[in-house]
Amino acid sequence: MVNEAVIGIDLGTSAIKLLAVSREGEVLGVQSEPLPLYQDYPGYSEQDPDEWNAAMQRGLKHLLRQPQMAEVVIKGASFSGQMHGLVLVDEAGRPLRRAILWNDTRTTPQCELIKEKHGDQVLGNPVVEGFTLTKLLWVKENEPEVWGKAAAFMLPKDYLRYCLTGEIFTEFSDAAATMLWNPQAKAWDKELGEEFGIPDIYPDVLQSHDEAGTFNALLAAELGLGTDVPVFAGGADNACGALGSGVINPNDSICSIGTSGVLLICEPVGGAEGYGHKIHLMNHAVPDVNYLMGVTLSAGYSLSWFKREFYADESFEQLLDEAREAGIGAHGLIFTPYLAGERTPHGDASIRGSFIGISGSNTRGDFARAVVEGITYSLYDSLIYLRSVGKNVTKIVSTGGGAKSDFWLQLQADVFNAEIYKLKHEEGPSMGAAMLAAYGLGWYPSLTDCAKQFIHYTTTFKPDLKRHKAYEDYFQIYQQVYNATRRLTKNLLELQKK
Ligand code: XUL
Repeated sequence: MVNEAVIGIDLGTSAIKLLAVSREGEVLGVQSEPLPLYQDYPGYSEQDPDEWNAAMQRGLKHLLRQPQMAEVVIKGASFSGQMHGLVLVDEAGRPLRRAILWNDTRTTPQCELIKEKHGDQVLGNPVVEGFTLTKLLWVKENEPEVWGKAAAFMLPKDYLRYCLTGEIFTEFSDAAATMLWNPQAKAWDKELGEEFGIPDIYPDVLQSHDEAGTFNALLAAELGLGTDVPVFAGGADNACGALGSGVINPNDSICSIGTSGVLLICEPVGGAEGYGHKIHLMNHAVPDVNYLMGVTLSAGYSLSWFKREFYADESFEQLLDEAREAGIGAHGLIFTPYLAGERTPHGDASIRGSFIGISGSNTRGDFARAVVEGITYSLYDSLIYLRSVGKNVTKIVSTGGGAKSDFWLQLQADVFNAEIYKLKHEEGPSMGAAMLAAYGLGWYPSLTDCAKQFIHYTTTFKPDLKRHKAYEDYFQIYQQVYNATRRLTKNLLELQKK
């Protein structure tokens, strides 16, 4: 029987993932292609847009050649992608330089300039190195020959869509990650841009489920697709991750541990203009919903770093088993996951991570436990901030690396003092992208209806109050590590630059 399907393409930082999903929400095929990352100097994080495109094209071919895809007819596609990154293109649409990514922290001087003029919060968001405006200013200041040729800027997944369709657009959820977009008015703040010397190089903005063009004829023929297969705008990875986990309506929350970690809660439109300089206010990929979000820059990244250096020959399961055995508090060891600075709540690019409390009796498993707890505490930092501004977070869907182990899911329930929901099938942001295509095609009357069909939960992890109190005691100390180590790690960083 011929099966109709959509493709969701998620441009992550470590890989691009492509997902084929049937009209009924069944996953028919998955393909992943790794992506190189360039970190030429401390704080730099770049990728080559052409390597993204090559990986996408390769991935599409591999996906569609999978044997079970032979009878599948692709009806549409959409995107999800890492947020904030800057792709600058010339008149001909050619990238002028590598993309500067969300976790690149070179733009502290540009942040200082913005803060001097506007304070710590701009358009509902903290002034932090991740946002696109700071990257535009860095290029303008440091690479005038590149800047002089810039005809348009794009967010990462928008470049990939442009490669498919030849049309330049962005959409609300990624525009909100630029610091040039007013998430309440849903419009570019071009006056703000002018104040900082940004010319009119803004992409036009669609809703996430709007059609943004069709597959170009050449690629469609190569892939064996029909003519005029529509491509829908798509959304930011955190928006698509939320959507693809059924986190759609006000108060729905998600904890996602990928390379970065995110604690996100949906918010009705027309809420506050912003919630202070600590937390992000963004437009969802779901029409008329916003979200508040705290970000840990190195969540899954901390665990992969730790595994690479201390468990290189063992599996993640082994690492997590030893962490579980170590018990709450890791025998007096605390880890702060600030490997590349921290976004929420500190907004500090020059803080670095620490292990505090090492004794001669600590085992490797204690270190593993401290890393898992430290990542979870950093997300708890965001959660308590959300609670402090009145958000009543009691149920959280958990996704990403942190949701792969029941041990870590229970740990999240206990640390957060919230019920944790586990998804039956977890595909991450690429599922949200596929849902945007399914909704864009008119297969479902709303994204909520689509989610009812596509998304199911299995286990719920309930918090244990006694364990929560035990974690709280360690968390009180964790919270003090930032101030206690800030100056020390900054000085160490300065020494490395000499
Ligand atoms: C969110 C953020 C990261 C990236 C990761 O503000 O910077 O979560 O979107 O892809």
